[in-house]
Amino acid sequence: MNAEPIVQTSGDVTFLRDCWYMAALARDVKRGGMMRKLLLGEPVVIGRMKNGDLFALRDICPHRGVPLSAGKVLGEASVECPYHGWRFRKDGVCSLIPSTVDGQDNIDPSKIRVRSYPVREQDGLIWVYFAANERAEPASEPPRVPVPNAVPRWVESQTFTCGIDHAVIGLMDPAHAPYVHGRWWWRVTPREKVKHYEPLPTGFVMTRHAPSKAAYKILGGADVSTEITFELPSTRFENIRGTIFGRSFDVSGLTVCTPIDANNTQVTQIFFWPAWLGFLKPFFMILGPTFLGDDRRIVELQKQGLEFNPSLMLIQDSDVPAMWYHRLKKAWAESTANGTPFVNPVKPRTLRWRS
Ligand code: FES
Ligand SMILES: [Fe+2]
Repeated sequence: MNAEPIVQTSGDVTFLRDCWYMAALARDVKRGGMMRKLLLGEPVVIGRMKNGDLFALRDICPHRGVPLSAGKVLGEASVECPYHGWRFRKDGVCSLIPSTVDGQDNIDPSKIRVRSYPVREQDGLIWVYFAANERAEPASEPPRVPVPNAVPRWVESQTFTCGIDHAVIGLMDPAHAPYVHGRWWWRVTPREKVKHYEPLPTGFVMTRHAPSKAAYKILGGADVSTEITFELPSTRFENIRGTIFGRSFDVSGLTVCTPIDANNTQVTQIFFWPAWLGFLKPFFMILGPTFLGDDRRIVELQKQGLEFNPSLMLIQDSDVPAMWYHRLKKAWAESTANGTPFVNPVKPRTLRWRS
């Protein structure tokens, strides 16, 4: 792969199917509540029945198109459309058409359904599955946060005005940090980095190493180490481990990119840590919005160039993770389109760059 730069064109955005996308925080979906979301360009209502059951339905009433999210959750575990009161269960099946009268039993409501998406709640997050074949059961489960009893302790979410690919690449691109994130109180002098990467089932990992950023000093001792994983479609975990006050800890930072549509992406960063590390919170409150905001602003600038649909470059070695992302995505899209097994194109490799 030590060839000339890869030249690729921007433009068409593919949303991968047969994947879980992080859609909301569990705590934001109350019992009896609903929220309308645009996910992968599709309107989806995410809600919770009064018994606590989650649901995710296409937010378009099959009768005449009104958003179900504008209706209400009823006691007997259904959602009522605000226009003519049709009711739908969490599996999307219509359970009642109130306007029909006795003798009109040629209309069977249970034959009418709105698309329902597989949905999971774990680690305080809600994940929605977008299947290539709408009726198929999920072929996997959503990613797990590698912290025991994970609770989102700190959350920052911003809308990036770009498609998912530029959002994802921006997160794995090591060369931008000194320019985009440089501050007087943050180290800006670039140094040479050598990092080893290994493949994961649907992505790759920058293997465990001692972090170079001064910010990690807050986590104390010399034994702090971190690994950074990326897996399709857009999940990045930074898993920090070490000892503080003589106790070992795991802190995990999750960054997910959820496509709103082809030109807008929700980027959410969530940190998970054990309750006894609560003193970390103010630190994240200061740094978190700053860094995600830096990335959002550079993407807005990038948009001014991308509007002209230029050819772009990915160059060695600092853009290799971005090349891997494109290859992984292509391999996944082909495997779901052809029904063939996914083969990870990433091979173990050590990358060197200055940042
Ligand atoms: S539009 Fe929903 S019930 Fe008529
Ligand atoms: Fe960044």
